[in-house]
Amino acid sequence: MRIDILTLFPEMFENVLGHSILKIAREKALVQYNLFNIREYAENKRCVDDRPYGGGPGMVMKPEPIFNTVEAIERETDARYKKILLTPQGSRFSQSIARDLATESHLMLICGHYEGFDERVRIGLDAMELSIGDYVLSGGEIPAMVVIDAVVRLIPGVLGDLDSTANESFNDSLLEYPQYTRPSEYKGMKVPSVLMSGNHQKIKEWQRNHAIERTLKKRPDLLNKTTETTDFADYTDKK
Ligand code: ADE
Repeated sequence: MRIDILTLFPEMFENVLGHSILKIAREKALVQYNLFNIREYAENKRCVDDRPYGGGPGMVMKPEPIFNTVEAIERETDARYKKILLTPQGSRFSQSIARDLATESHLMLICGHYEGFDERVRIGLDAMELSIGDYVLSGGEIPAMVVIDAVVRLIPGVLGDLDSTANESFNDSLLEYPQYTRPSEYKGMKVPSVLMSGNHQKIKEWQRNHAIERTLKKRPDLLNKTTETTDFADYTDKK
């Protein structure tokens, strides 16, 4: 996958892309990150934002440096790619959107700053708009990093253990079951004996029950979306 990032602050990405899974994905040549400094494509490099027409606080990012950057990329690449604007007005980013994006071959993430984009960026680029949550950050850079991290780890081959994304939280709209590692007892807290029993059938049952129980307790809203066929009312009675 190729990921193009359009930003006024490319340096912000270097650390995040240069560590852990995002770095490994690049080293395995499963992903390529390209940073584009929007300022470099502005007709006047000292002026990438301006006061809003009609008045109001703050500055708005001008359309021309963003369009210039996108058009420069389009001149040297195939046209089949997904454009994403990071904005608090976008659809709420989720694990299922991450799964869809992980199947794309080319993503372009466009980070706004200041009070947002000139509306013609929205109208003219026809991009998907994504928000990482109902709060306003000072720019789209951190949201872009969140999206990249969530997507890249789902690209086949990025994580060593192919199964390690299969059981994690939000798959089938359930939270992940509790996990333990050595030692078997720590500060008086014991690992549930079934997990050390070697009985795979029983272990699977325990994990499924605990995933449901945990989701019921912490995120009951998710259970409306699961394909799990358990009757949750019965389940709560039984526990
Ligand atoms: N830019 C500023 N706030 C944001 C948010 N919550 N999500 C995505 N982009 C943003």
